[in-house]
Amino acid sequence: MKVLAVDTTADDTCAAVVEDGQKILSNIVHSQSLLHVRFGGIVPQIASYEHLRNILPVVDEACRQAQIGLDQIDLFATGQAYDRAHTYYLVCLDTAKIFAKVFGKPLVGVDHIEAHILVNFVVHPRLDYPFISLTVAGGHTILVWVRGFADYQILGQTRDDAAGEAFDKVARLLELGYPGGPVIDRAARAGNPQAFKFKSPMKGENNFDFSYSGLKTAVFYEVRDLKEKYGDPLPSEMTNDLAASFRRAAVGALTEKIFRATRELGLKKVVLGGGVAANELLRDLVDRAGREHGVAVFYPPKVLCTDNAVGTAALAFRQFRSRGGDDLLKLSYFRETVLGQ
Ligand code: KG4
Ligand code: ZN
Repeated sequence: MKVLAVDTTADDTCAAVVEDGQKILSNIVHSQSLLHVRFGGIVPQIASYEHLRNILPVVDEACRQAQIGLDQIDLFATGQAYDRAHTYYLVCLDTAKIFAKVFGKPLVGVDHIEAHILVNFVVHPRLDYPFISLTVAGGHTILVWVRGFADYQILGQTRDDAAGEAFDKVARLLELGYPGGPVIDRAARAGNPQAFKFKSPMKGENNFDFSYSGLKTAVFYEVRDLKEKYGDPLPSEMTNDLAASFRRAAVGALTEKIFRATRELGLKKVVLGGGVAANELLRDLVDRAGREHGVAVFYPPKVLCTDNAVGTAALAFRQFRSRGGDDLLKLSYFRETVLGQ
């Protein structure tokens, strides 16, 4: 079964063709990040307009690379927002609806966060349930006990900012650019992670929650004080040290909670997803802790950590097999629930 999925997430216009939930025939992502950089964040109206302009060329390219016509697609899929405010999902929703109607094929809407988890099945064919999943991105930080397909228990979430949001805000404070994750990774490679003693938020606490606003504020005050002392802009070595120290604190909290969960639930598998799962230090620390605890660690290649429609297509395939297509007239651009809860 060939699935064409479209996703118009915050600043990425995505389309992919995936066969039987497993074989990637194409994966196209058009990023708008350069457009939003001057506003220091995503402007929803601009994002929606750009998605509208780009969605058909992106779909055309996905079909061209997959060497397939739209009339040969068996199932159309769209991502759905987890927040009513993410109105840019209207673009992928309506695009998928129109294709389904025109070509007389079924339509499936999928949970964006679930797609970030399920993309791992495409790249790790031997992965199976149950496992602990950490989905970390620009808008969410969620630790989940995944018992089976569509059988989730949310263990913990962020109480304020998402991890990716903290990377983006700290990158802006350090004047490193946008999106924050990759530029902080780059600066951190040249920095000393022990130079500043930022605390890993909520680390050591007996819960599965996260918090990033305090860490972000600590970096803000440190940067302000350093600028008073050393001038603005800060010397680049200092910026690198700040990036490395922030990254150490940000990622340390995530790693600790993942393995607290595997220990308490007696699970032997960990699955990462979402943009922050592309973080080099996070991957490294989770790999290392996995070896120490005898836990197998799975994460996608970096291009499938950040937003993409491959996960959307893979999830749509499984969802269609288990409960059929959605009602074209009833499907909304957002879901009332996250992971069915
Ligand atoms: O999954 P994603 O593309 O979009 C959302 O669903 O939010 O994640 C985007 C987020 C951004 O906040 C970006 O800074 C972060 O993922 N990110 C990273 C890295 N690459 C992207 N964070 C840390 N390290 C990275 N290498
Ligand atoms: Zn995402």
